[in-house]
Amino acid sequence: MSKEILKTLHKIPTHVAIIMDGNGRWALERGLSRLAGHKAGTENLREIIEASAEFGIKYLTIYAFSTENWKRPKEEIQGLMRIFKTMLDRELNNLHKNGVQLRHIGRLDGIGKELQKKVREAIELTKDNQTLILNVAFNYGGRDEILQAVKQIVANGVNVDDLDDDQFAKYLYTAESPDPDLVIRTSGEFRCSNFLIWQNAYAEWYFTPTYWPDFNRNELYQALVAYNERDRRYGKVKQDKEK
Ligand code: IPE
Ligand code: IPE
Ligand code: MG
Repeated sequence: MSKEILKTLHKIPTHVAIIMDGNGRWALERGLSRLAGHKAGTENLREIIEASAEFGIKYLTIYAFSTENWKRPKEEIQGLMRIFKTMLDRELNNLHKNGVQLRHIGRLDGIGKELQKKVREAIELTKDNQTLILNVAFNYGGRDEILQAVKQIVANGVNVDDLDDDQFAKYLYTAESPDPDLVIRTSGEFRCSNFLIWQNAYAEWYFTPTYWPDFNRNELYQALVAYNERDRRYGKVKQDKEK
């Protein structure tokens, strides 16, 4: 993407969150297995991560496995864990070299020991990188996140009079990230599927029929173009001088 084209974007969202959906349908339409779809859905990730950094996005959050995805067939779950492990092994050095800081959101203790260890090592290795913060939502659920926050608040004996939006957000998995500005969902579904339900209160949404494995740099650019046309009011009315 040339610098000239990028200049046409006046606002770059600080935080973009993506619901990477449609791997299964992408595969079935090609007569392949759902797992082949999940594998294909990791091939384009490097391009999207690199493009995000190039566009000036500071935080990228990707929804990779939800707390509800445990309800899928055992073989699919095992395959997904394997693919995630392979992906980490394959991509970690490149991510580190490109200044990507890896973070995890969700329940890490709910996944296999070996994968947990790999994720913790990747977080440790990249913790000082600043080019792009990559939050990987794996074994993540928005309701689960809010419930664990409430439990922690109660356990800490926090005075409820001291609780406000900002204080509450400190107990969420995303405590270190600003709220998303733009959420993208691929594959033509129009729902949030338990993704960042607290944090997305004022996010802008972008939906595309493209299945996740086909989502590329140009599609991300199109989402940013759409974002540039949005008028974020946060419940207010525009002042005359802003009209
Ligand atoms: C998204 O693709 C990846 C995960 C949820 C892990 P899907 O597997 O949901 O693909 P579809 O929606 O069935 O096509
Ligand atoms: C959301 O997709 C979860 C991820 C992309 C990881 P799903 O495919 O699980 O969502 P539903 O079931 O269509 O709502
Ligand atoms: Mg799906």
